[in-house]
Amino acid sequence: MWRFLQVSDPHLASLTDGQWNNNFICTMMPDVMRCLRRDVAKLDPDFILATGDIVSQDTRDAMFAARDLMDSLGVPYYPMGGNHDFVLPESREWFLEAFRAHLPVLDTVYSFTHKNLHFCVLDPWWQWKDGTLCPYIEGPSAGASWAVTPHQLRWLEDDLQAHSTLPTLIAVHYPAVQIPARMQRPGMRNAGSLANGALLIELLKGYPQVKGVISGHLHMNFIVTVNGLTHIVTGSLPEYPTEYREYQVYDDRIEVFTHGLSDPSFASRSLISGKDWTQGEVEDRTGIIRLT
Ligand SMILES: [Fe+2]
Ligand SMILES: [Fe+2]
Repeated sequence: MWRFLQVSDPHLASLTDGQWNNNFICTMMPDVMRCLRRDVAKLDPDFILATGDIVSQDTRDAMFAARDLMDSLGVPYYPMGGNHDFVLPESREWFLEAFRAHLPVLDTVYSFTHKNLHFCVLDPWWQWKDGTLCPYIEGPSAGASWAVTPHQLRWLEDDLQAHSTLPTLIAVHYPAVQIPARMQRPGMRNAGSLANGALLIELLKGYPQVKGVISGHLHMNFIVTVNGLTHIVTGSLPEYPTEYREYQVYDDRIEVFTHGLSDPSFASRSLISGKDWTQGEVEDRTGIIRLT
């Protein structure tokens, strides 16, 4: 058995706090990362998958500050971008500059193989109301969504064809699935799923080696299985329940666990009474992905 961790939506290097479904306390992240460093060391993972919204301020300095905080965890990691990372025309250039030592190729779309598992990392673009795609925000972003570009879908098919014998996970900031009905609450804030998630799921049907899709963005935990494909959505570190996932990889399966920080005060500071449902139910917190 070997393990990797998933850390999502740390929103590092932000000087402002706010509220999403729970209090969203970005200014506690330096302390959270110090706690996480200690917690991660006990698990000794092979690497961390950081599923986007790594930085939360649109400057080159912030990108490097976020990189330094990720480096402070003391574990190899694979970064990917989200809507808070890729905002400006320069954002991807800064990302590649800051994280180049952590990327297998100098690109925001990449794949890698670790032991018995293959990973494909995607970088969806902004999609405007008229359906046009753009890699960054131009004009007001209200009503925008995100979609995997046709070029990336072709890249994904080529990559999956070239690695057809390896069990594969897709990692993408935006979930391909919607928030399940059991999680819905009146007044719930929904950051939105991939505009062409159904198309991506349809494409993946042709590649049975793909066993799971790992995402963040929604700042809540859930696990759903659609047509035999497991979708794992993991909450945001600065927002309740301030958790991360552990994936224990065996020859025939991956066991998924959810962990809070060893210092529970971060979660309790963020929690708004009655909104603890963002941690998910039992079925959203542990799971098994069959690899055979
Ligand atoms: Fe986020
Ligand atoms: Fe996001």
